[in-house]
Amino acid sequence: MRARIAGTGSCLPKLRVTNDDLSRIMDTSDEWIRSRTGIGARHLAVEETTAGMSVSAARMALEEAGMQPEELEMIIGATLSADHIAPPLSCEVQRELGAVHAVAFDVCAACSGFVFALNMAQAYIQSGMYRKILIIGAETLSKLMDWNDRSTCVLFGDGAGAAVVYADEEGIRACVQGSDGAKGMVLSCAGRQIQHPFIKIAPSSVSEENTSEPRKTVYDPYVRMNGQEVYKFAVRTVPMCIQQALKQADLEPDDVDFFLLHQANLRIIESVAKRLKQPMEKFPVCLEECGNISAASVPILLDHVNREGRMKRGDRIVLAGFGAGLTWGAVVLTW
Ligand code: ACO
Repeated sequence: MRARIAGTGSCLPKLRVTNDDLSRIMDTSDEWIRSRTGIGARHLAVEETTAGMSVSAARMALEEAGMQPEELEMIIGATLSADHIAPPLSCEVQRELGAVHAVAFDVCAACSGFVFALNMAQAYIQSGMYRKILIIGAETLSKLMDWNDRSTCVLFGDGAGAAVVYADEEGIRACVQGSDGAKGMVLSCAGRQIQHPFIKIAPSSVSEENTSEPRKTVYDPYVRMNGQEVYKFAVRTVPMCIQQALKQADLEPDDVDFFLLHQANLRIIESVAKRLKQPMEKFPVCLEECGNISAASVPILLDHVNREGRMKRGDRIVLAGFGAGLTWGAVVLTW
C-alpha cells in the first residue's frame, strides 16, 4: 500500500508585514529583499501559537479528507519552533483535536521536516502498521530570529500546513532523503545554555582544585546562516535528489505536473527549474506572500495549490525540502 494525500490545510497568522514595513524599522528595502529572494511579505504570530495554527490547518485537512479526528492512528509534527520543548507539538495537536487513538511524535529536520515526515508516513503505511496519518509542518520562526540581524530576519515567517494521508493503491511512488552533518553550522540555531549549580566546576573532576573559573560559553539563541553556502548547497543538491526520486519512480521531469519546493528563495527555485529543464509554471510559489516558513513551507504551498484547484487526481507531483542539518529530501507522488 502507499500513502495517499486525502486532504490538506494551512494557517497563517493575521499580522502581515511587508518589506516596506520592515524598511521602516531596519536598514533594508523592498528592492534588496525582493531582488535577492522573491519575498514581498511574511505573516508574523502575535496571539497565534505553533500548536494553534497547526490545529486550524489539521481541521481543514481532516474536513477535506472526510475523516474524524478519532480515526487518526498517528500524528507526526515537523517543527523547529514548537511552543514547548515538551510536550511535543504533535501531542498538543492530538489533545486539541481529540485524536484519542493516535500515537503522536515530532521530527526535527528543519526545512526538510515535512518531506521527512511524509516519508515516515509512507514507511508506516507500506509496512501495514498504520493506515491513517496526519502530518503537520508548523513554525513560529519569528521567536528564533535576531531582529537586529537584517541578513536573516527578513527571510522568515510563521505559519502551519497539514496533510492527512491514508493507505491506498496509489500515492507516494518514490522517496529520497539525505543529510550532511559535516556542514551543519552553515545554518544553525543554538539550544539552551547549561545552567545547573555545578556549572563552575570542571566536568573532568568535581573534586579538583583551581577549577572554579566560569566556563566561557558563548550563548546565541538565534538562527545564524551563511546564505551563500546554503545557496550553493541547495542549487546542487535539490535537482540531484529530485532526479534520484524520479528515477526510482521510473519517471522523467517532463512527466511531472507540479514541483512543490521548499520556499526559501525564488532564485533557488528558478535554478532548480533550469537544471531540470522545466518551465517555471510547473513550480508554484507562495514565498512572495509568506517568506520562508521552514517545515511549514511545503505543506502550506501544497494546500494553496490544492485549494486553487490546480491539481487533479492522477497528476504527478514532486515535493522537495532542503535546509538545516544539512538535510534534503524529495517525494514523488500521484495526487
Ligand atoms: N537589506 C539590505 N542589505 C542587506 C540585508 C538586508 N536585509 N541583509 C544583508 N545586507 C547587506 C549585507 O550587509 C552586505 O552588505 P556589504 O556588502 O556592505 O557587507 C550585502 O547586503 C550583501 O550581503 P550578502 O549576505 O552577501 O547577500 P547575498 O547577496 O548573499 O544575499 C541571501 C543574501 C539572499 C540570503 C543569499 O545568500 C541567498 O540567496 N542565500 C540562499 C539561502 C537562503 O535563501 N536561505 C534562506 C534560509 S535557508 C533555507 O531555508 C534552506
